[in-house]
Parts: sequence; C-alpha cells; structure tokens
Amino acid sequence: MSSGTPNRQVDTSKPHPARVYDWLLGGKDHYEVDRALGEQLPELAKRSARQNRAFMRRASAWLAQQGVEQFLDIGTGIPTEPNLHQIVQGINPRAGIVYVDNDPIVLRHAEALMLSTPEGATHYIDADVHEPKTILRRAGRHLDFDRPVALSLIALMHFIPNGDGPRDPYAIVGTFLDALAPGSFLTLSHGTFDFHPELEAQITGRTRTVTSRPGRALATRWRGSSTGSTSSNRAS
Ligand SMILES: C[S@@+](CC[C@H](N)C(=O)[O-])C[C@H]1O[C@@H](n2cnc3c(N)ncnc32)[C@H](O)[C@@H]1O
Repeated sequence: MSSGTPNRQVDTSKPHPARVYDWLLGGKDHYEVDRALGEQLPELAKRSARQNRAFMRRASAWLAQQGVEQFLDIGTGIPTEPNLHQIVQGINPRAGIVYVDNDPIVLRHAEALMLSTPEGATHYIDADVHEPKTILRRAGRHLDFDRPVALSLIALMHFIPNGDGPRDPYAIVGTFLDALAPGSFLTLSHGTFDFHPELEAQITGRTRTVTSRPGRALATRWRGSSTGSTSSNRAS
C-alpha cells in the first residue's frame, strides 16, 4: 500500500462524498454530518447509489470476462461487498487491481480492499485524481501500461469542477486515456439531472458542501438494462 499523507485526519465537521455514499448504500462508515445530508436528499438518491454500485459490478465482471487482467479504479469509495477486486478475481484469480482514493476514511479501509487471491494482487494508492501523472507513475509499479488496463472513474468526475488547464476534468481524463494501451477500456458513470430536471435545484443546494460542483442524480440505464445511462468504452 502507499499512502500520500498518512496523518491526514478524518474531517467530521462537514459531509464527505465517500461517507454520504456509504450512508446511501446502507453502510456503517459515516458520521452524523453525512447522515444529515443524506436525509435531505430525495429518496431517489438511495436507489441511484445502489444502481450505480450494481453498474460497477456488472461492468467489472464483463471486462474480466473479456480477458482484461489489470484494473485501475479511481474514486474507489468505502468498501461495500462485493468490491471490484472480489468480482474480477472471482472470474480471473490472476487479475491485478490498483485502487485510488483521496479520502482518509477510505485509506483506513484499504486493508479490506487488499485481500487478494494468492494468484492476483491488489494495491491501494492514497492520491487525488487531479494528479493523473502521479497516479499513473505510482500505479505503474503494479500495472503494466503496455498491456490493456480497465480504468474506472465511477461516480467520481461529477465532483471535479470544470476549469482551465490540467485540473479540468476533460484534461484529467485525457491524460489517463493517453497512457492506456490499445485494447484498454474506460468505465465511467456520471451524475445527471437529464431524467429528473425537477430535482436539480433541490439537490444542487444541498450538495454544495461535498462538492464545488452542483450535485447530480445518478443516471440509470446501461447496455440495454433498465438501470443506467453510463457506458464502458474500449480505448483505441
Ligand atoms: C460516490 S463515491 C463512488 C465510489 C465507487 N466508485 C462506486 O461507484 O461505488 C465517490 C468516491 O470518489 C472519491 N473522490 C472524490 N473526489 C476525489 C478526488 N479528487 N480524488 C480521488 N478520489 C476522489 C470519494 O472519496 C469517494 O470515495
């Protein structure tokens, strides 16, 4: 495991995305301040969180079934079983996974994310997605970027505000994609109000404390299922 800032404290004075998401999923790793925000969100938010997590599981399983053996999952979240490594190593025990998150509470749970099969390996990097080159360099100690990698940015990029230069979300994603070999995949889900425009004002105001970007309701159609408008695309 590598940890960028090991002494970083968990800030319980304001809600954090990983902990609010944990509350929405019915987990136990959140604080009063996270629950208070979660309770203000429409009931739909819980369903969206579950559907997003289900999408992660379907997409990861599909990628492992296609023969992808290396996974780079950024914005991992607090472990909620089954986690990505359990899914893909259940299909291919030799699969290698690198998890990345910047929340100290996720770092505290990193051990649970690293219970790998003997044939495979899982690693955890404490880092911010705003630093794609650092993440790629550190992940490169465990993954071979000359071979296909499944990069996942699931329910993460809506926390990254639009901006100029290297901190812009398009620039960040572009830096990751440039590093991927042919045959790699990007799996990305992103909140949207497209299907519930009436909720935008309600959620935007309440989630400003966890993101500098307006909040989003998660979309729910993917690959012909009735749940998700997210996508998994092969890099060329
Ligand atoms: C809504 S959770 C999604 C968890 C998981 N990907 C899933 O879909 O089940 C978003 C995660 O992104 C992480 N995150 C938010 N901003 C981040 C950043 N700038 N760098 C790295 N991780 C970040 C949060 O800590 C949280 O764990």
